[in-house]
Amino acid sequence: MKNYIKFGLLLFFCFQLHQFYAVELVQQDFNTFSNFANKLGINITKYNSSNICYTNGLFCFPFSSQYWIINFDWTGNNTYSIQHEDIQFPYMQRLRFEKMVLQDTFFGQLITKLPNVTEFACNSCNLISIPTGTSKVITLSLNSNDFNGIQKFSSIPQTVRYFSSYNSSAHESLVWVNDLKVAKVFESLSLSTNAFPDCSNLNVTELKLYLTNNFETSLANTKNGLSKTTKYVYLEGKYNQVQNLTFPNNFTTSQTFSKGDTYGLTTYWSLESVYVNWKVATPLVFNTPNSLRNIKIRFGSFSTNDGKFPIQSSSLLDTLEVSYSNNLVELDFNVLRKIRSNLFGSNKISMELPAEIKWENDDQIAWSINPNTNSIRSNYALDLRTNSFYGTLPKWTCNTYSIFSSNKFTGELPSCYTCFLKDSFTRSKISGNNFTNYQDSWTADKYPPCTTIQINQVYIQQGAYQSSRYLQLIGKDLGVHSTIVGMISNFNVSFTPLIENEWYQALVNETVYSLLTRSSTIQVYFPIPDKLITTRGNFKELVSYNTTISQTTFNVKSNGGGSTSTSTSGTSSSGSVSPTDEPNSCSSLFISQTLLLISLVLSLLI
Ligand SMILES: *[C@@H]1O[C@H](CO)[C@@H](O)[C@H](O)[C@H]1NC(C)=O
Ligand SMILES: *[C@@H]1O[C@H](CO)[C@@H](O)[C@H](O)[C@H]1NC(C)=O
Ligand SMILES: *[C@@H]1O[C@H](CO)[C@@H](O)[C@H](O)[C@H]1NC(C)=O
Ligand SMILES: *[C@@H]1O[C@H](CO)[C@@H](O)[C@H](O)[C@H]1NC(C)=O
Ligand SMILES: *[C@@H]1O[C@H](CO)[C@@H](O)[C@H](O)[C@H]1NC(C)=O
Ligand SMILES: *[C@@H]1O[C@H](CO)[C@@H](O)[C@H](O)[C@H]1NC(C)=O
Ligand SMILES: *[C@@H]1O[C@H](CO)[C@@H](O)[C@H](O)[C@H]1NC(C)=O
Ligand SMILES: *[C@@H]1O[C@H](CO)[C@@H](O)[C@H](O)[C@H]1NC(C)=O
Ligand SMILES: *[C@@H]1O[C@H](CO)[C@@H](O)[C@H](O)[C@H]1NC(C)=O
Ligand SMILES: *[C@@H]1O[C@H](CO)[C@@H](O)[C@H](O)[C@H]1NC(C)=O
Ligand SMILES: *[C@@H]1O[C@H](CO)[C@@H](O)[C@H](O)[C@H]1NC(C)=O
Ligand SMILES: *[C@@H]1O[C@H](CO)[C@@H](O)[C@H](O)[C@H]1NC(C)=O
Repeated sequence: MKNYIKFGLLLFFCFQLHQFYAVELVQQDFNTFSNFANKLGINITKYNSSNICYTNGLFCFPFSSQYWIINFDWTGNNTYSIQHEDIQFPYMQRLRFEKMVLQDTFFGQLITKLPNVTEFACNSCNLISIPTGTSKVITLSLNSNDFNGIQKFSSIPQTVRYFSSYNSSAHESLVWVNDLKVAKVFESLSLSTNAFPDCSNLNVTELKLYLTNNFETSLANTKNGLSKTTKYVYLEGKYNQVQNLTFPNNFTTSQTFSKGDTYGLTTYWSLESVYVNWKVATPLVFNTPNSLRNIKIRFGSFSTNDGKFPIQSSSLLDTLEVSYSNNLVELDFNVLRKIRSNLFGSNKISMELPAEIKWENDDQIAWSINPNTNSIRSNYALDLRTNSFYGTLPKWTCNTYSIFSSNKFTGELPSCYTCFLKDSFTRSKISGNNFTNYQDSWTADKYPPCTTIQINQVYIQQGAYQSSRYLQLIGKDLGVHSTIVGMISNFNVSFTPLIENEWYQALVNETVYSLLTRSSTIQVYFPIPDKLITTRGNFKELVSYNTTISQTTFNVKSNGGGSTSTSTSGTSSSGSVSPTDEPNSCSSLFISQTLLLISLVLSLLI
């Protein structure tokens, strides 16, 4: 993934450079490359030093006002054996070969011949083990080679932090043994193996395992196997022979320690699997802090041995995805309501949704702000598309950002959807069912009239930060993730959801705020269904930030299916982050992502 992004950026950048600058490659590099090209059978007669950069897998970059080759990517045909003199490029940083023959000494001499290479790949090079030698290589990819038998962690060069060596048809007997006595840091470790490697004394952030056909089924070593710093574990079985594994109970309790990443401190890890059938002995309990937070299971099952829903309690799960699974036939909504994102598309689930859910403060599916990142949710709360759910679509679904298309729902579609049917995104969330008041084939003139949109309350509230103020809008059938525009004199503000369909808010700046305080009405416009509501509010009063209403949502819900939760106020739960923080952190997230992008581009080039 990361490499794709890098590669994409690189391509884009090369293209830009190529377009706008004439790049003159230093003659020394040009000569070395043309000799190499001749041996590789690359025809470069139409190129000279002014036009060869960014062709034939070359990437050049200026150092002391001259362009040098810094990257070379080449796919051969497993005939040419690379000699050291072929590749004397003093500024080279990345060398990626596919289907090339490496001499035994090649890798060992990287340090002298290509002193600044930090990324090296030889994929499909018929290697049977890691070439020996010292180098400054940090990223080493040796995928689709012929590794077999026992491979030792100690054979991975000391400098390497990103190591990848997998082969989709690896030998059955391939196993990686941890013979390291001293802790070593791996940002990423991707291996084909027939057993879960023991990473307990290592610092491995991301562990990806490609399972051989006879991969151990019990994961008995897993307790010892997971590194304390692991953030992500990926297991991939085979398309044609899905692996059967027992879900280790230890996965529910394995803790990771805090380590800074792009979102600040994270103290949990994520599990993803493809082509793995997970068997669960007794329903799992995920309530351990600093533990497994996200589970994604694709093309494999996840259920108890008798086919029941495998989770008993999960107040700390953030994402649960089980998709393209044949055996999952039922869900437990008492568990799901506590999980932020439940992604169950493309299964064979056949059941009715619960008729009613009385929201509680820790019902994560009804939070539109992600309390962990303070951003508006982008993942669905419930993705139930392409299953066999039947019965009516209950009204509580209006409070969740969810998708229900391609099921067998019948009966009357609630007005929170019918009011917004002219919006194709709304339609896409409920299409492929058979409602009495909506059919996919209908044209807009047949849609039910929208008479239920209503605004009950507008007021201004202090945000978490001294100077921030929010216009709050509480009502009925405001829609799910809908576009709502507040029109104040000549200014427009846009609302974002706090509770879907019932409660939206908009950040207002000083200009708009002072206009509001001089007026008692505002106009609220819903582009879909094209409805303008003029409403009154007491804008002279600034509701303070520390009132209950600013810090919790469901405790104080005034209308709709809201119930008063008996739990303590949101300040003590994980949802305690005030939703009013959100736009500030949104912009800081944006800034940090921009910085990330810039630093990524810089890191590619410098
Ligand atoms: C394989 O590559 C060599 C040079 O590296 C070239 O001479 C030969 O023609 C290639 N063979 C095929 C089948 O492409
Ligand atoms: C190399 O390419 C040029 C055109 O760019 C062509 O004229 C020449 O015949 C090619 N040489 C070989 C050996 O294929
Ligand atoms: C390189 O080739 C291009 C045409 O392909 C030509 O315009 C240019 O003058 C050549 N540059 C040199 C330094 O020979
Ligand atoms: C190689 O990298 C070192 C530092 O890592 C740097 O000082 C040196 O200039 C680089 N050499 C070249 C030719 O890029
Ligand atoms: C993977 O390993 C097998 C067995 O060693 C080998 O035949 C095959 O070429 C390797 N590469 C790929 C891409 O499967
Ligand atoms: C590995 O991580 C632990 C804590 O998670 C830390 O104390 C230790 O210094 C790390 N070791 C290395 C080699 O970075
Ligand atoms: C799980 O952890 C327990 C103790 O915490 C340990 O006895 C057991 O061997 C571990 N492994 C498995 C697979 O249960
Ligand atoms: C997993 O179990 C299924 C049936 O339960 C079986 O068909 C399949 O071969 C098993 N997979 C492996 C890799 O043993
Ligand atoms: C849709 O439901 C109606 C009854 O409300 C039924 O007559 C019709 O056959 C159903 N259509 C489909 C495609 O299932
Ligand atoms: C405000 O929104 C309305 C409705 O979308 C639009 O007609 C109007 O031009 C907007 N005004 C400004 C200043 O953007
Ligand atoms: C205040 O907000 C309005 C509406 O979003 C915007 O049009 C206006 O430019 C903002 N004014 C200032 C000073 O930022
Ligand atoms: C709310 O804030 C005001 C002023 O900052 C303070 O006097 C009051 O005690 C606070 N109320 C609560 C419940 O914290």
